[in-house]
Amino acid sequence: MERHRPALAYVVPRFQNPTGTVLPPLAGRRLVEAANALGVPLVDDEVLADLAFAPGPREPSLSAYGEVIAVGSLSKVVWGGLRIGWVRGPAPLVARLARLKALHDLGSDLPSQLVATRLLDDFAPVLASRTAAVRAGHDHLRAELARLLPAWSCAPATGGQTLWVRLPHGDGVSFAQLALRHGVAVLPGATTDALGGSLRHLRLHFLAPTEVLTEAVRRLAAAWAEYTPGPEPERASLHAIVV
Ligand SMILES: Cc1ncc(COP(=O)(O)O)c(C=O)c1O
Repeated sequence: MERHRPALAYVVPRFQNPTGTVLPPLAGRRLVEAANALGVPLVDDEVLADLAFAPGPREPSLSAYGEVIAVGSLSKVVWGGLRIGWVRGPAPLVARLARLKALHDLGSDLPSQLVATRLLDDFAPVLASRTAAVRAGHDHLRAELARLLPAWSCAPATGGQTLWVRLPHGDGVSFAQLALRHGVAVLPGATTDALGGSLRHLRLHFLAPTEVLTEAVRRLAAAWAEYTPGPEPERASLHAIVV
């Protein structure tokens, strides 16, 4: 942060998309302290943060260590079509954002806000059923990958909605094209890596029903059996970040 002095820093510390990783608390503290010391606004994207597979205590959110702008949403726990999110941050900033939003869209629609408040009144069962569903998808996808594609490596996730897979050879971009011809769309790691790395990686999500995940892995295995990688992949130049 000292070297680049960014105008703004944006992080997904918990169940990051695409890797599914969790930022250790010490690293989170150092990040917030550095951002605050250098006056860099730090956005903490908490949209996936509630999707923990196991209930229990969780590491503190970044706002425990200093000033951050936290954004959350109902889209991952409830439904992507319910366009209700929120921002927590210093009061003057939130007041400014509220004024800008009012100018921009005249305010979010009322029926969605009413649905959201009703859901938030009794959120625990909603969250429990969602986390049980994503956990089941995660466990099923990993089991199918271990069965049909044992050479692919992917660490288990502890939450979120994606697995970060490393191919034993080849590159994610050319394999994803082949997978598409088998009717499965997967995201090559390189398209999510602003530094042009992650060439051997793929992001797989586990949000589909188990029978769809089973069929998807069967097709990925068929594509993998056909796959002949080209020359060693090269680190690409700057890519667009896909969310
Ligand atoms: C980390 C993260 N933040 C934000 C979003 C966007 O969420 P929303 O549908 O609430 O705009 C996504 C979507 O996948 C995401 O993975």
